[in-house]
Amino acid sequence: MRMVDVIQKKRNGKELTKEEINFFIEGYTIGEIPDYQASALMMAIYFNGMKSNETATLTQAMVESGETIDLSAIEGHKVDKHSTGGVGDKTTFIVGPLVASVGVPVAKMSGRGLGHTGGTLDKLESIKGFHIEMTKEEFVNNVNTHKLSVAGQTGNLAPADKKLYALRDVTATVDSIPLIAGSIMSKKLASGADGIVLDVKTGSGAFMKKLEDSESLAREMVNIGNNLGRNTVAVISDMNQPLGFEVGNANEVREACQVLQGENIEDLRLLSLELASHMTVLAGAFEDFDSAYKTLEQNLQNGKAFESFRTLVKAQGGDVSVIDDLTKLPQSKYHIEVTAEQDGYVSEIDAESIGVAAMYLGAGRATKDDQINHGVGITLKKKVGDQVTKGEVLVVLHSDDEEPTNSIEKINEAYSLSKEVREKHQLIYKVIN
Ligand code: URA
Repeated sequence: MRMVDVIQKKRNGKELTKEEINFFIEGYTIGEIPDYQASALMMAIYFNGMKSNETATLTQAMVESGETIDLSAIEGHKVDKHSTGGVGDKTTFIVGPLVASVGVPVAKMSGRGLGHTGGTLDKLESIKGFHIEMTKEEFVNNVNTHKLSVAGQTGNLAPADKKLYALRDVTATVDSIPLIAGSIMSKKLASGADGIVLDVKTGSGAFMKKLEDSESLAREMVNIGNNLGRNTVAVISDMNQPLGFEVGNANEVREACQVLQGENIEDLRLLSLELASHMTVLAGAFEDFDSAYKTLEQNLQNGKAFESFRTLVKAQGGDVSVIDDLTKLPQSKYHIEVTAEQDGYVSEIDAESIGVAAMYLGAGRATKDDQINHGVGITLKKKVGDQVTKGEVLVVLHSDDEEPTNSIEKINEAYSLSKEVREKHQLIYKVIN
């Protein structure tokens, strides 16, 4: 087989066979197929797409390019959650404890943040002493004992995807539905969960800006999961503004704890309950969504979910007093208000610009070697639909720099005000299963 023929076939809009896809993934992973031929194929897929069965084959080949994690030593039905990337998305800290609070095991492998979206591990490390390094035995033990553990991604999971994602990043081929679906699902499938709940974001701060594209991506991922033997559900949720009011690290942990302690931070609470309910139904803990939702809602109110989070923190070396007294979380030196320049209603908050503003403050990484500053971040004081008067505070920047000019510029770019009130965005658009 010759790679040039595979490229030509896809360039001409034809379907690739399993043998051709495997030939490409195997050859590319070991370095026999060069980047320039892989780039050409990525571009041909970008323009001509892939049929669902081709995408599933590509995904399976990427899973098989590396190690897979065997979670069979964990008792019960393991369900994982994955978000396609949002700003202010701290649902993992609420969903994990909620699901664990009804006895469903959550073995969460998470990553670090890069660019405008934050990483679960970075955020958790705002809690003094919390560590995510552990052996596989400790991880399995933690989940069996406490029903919840969060570890850094270890092992050589889907190395073909790692190489291809880096290549797509520099060849303008990231935003292709089959390529995104295959990339995300290969890592999820290699991580060994029995069921997967996907939070597919839609809107200005998401990969997919349009609802119909987000729906196609969600359908593709659900098909892949189900075709490859994992029960998969996708929830399409809004990313036309950050989720909740806090963007950063320690401040996101604080907001998640507030929801876990029963506070009604509406979008964050509702999305967390939605995702956790689907997870517990997939795990077989409840017969239907409504009874799951009702019990999980009670567990937010009666402290059981927060207790699960305390147990997680304790088990992984964290100082529990920090989450019992949230003022002990890291804080920045300065709190700088950014105010409205005119009267009006907030019509849009570009989530990506808010994420970039937080990154400039030091809450995220521009390159993968950057250090995170856990105490800095952004508090939104106004969200879409809110009325503002000139001079009123839109956001507070928590900064260690007295004059964070770049971040202030980004905030001004992120907020759009209009004369008329804008209807609030729907939070959950669709569930696909
Ligand atoms: N996240 C991934 O892991 N892969 C993509 O292709 C896009 C987002």
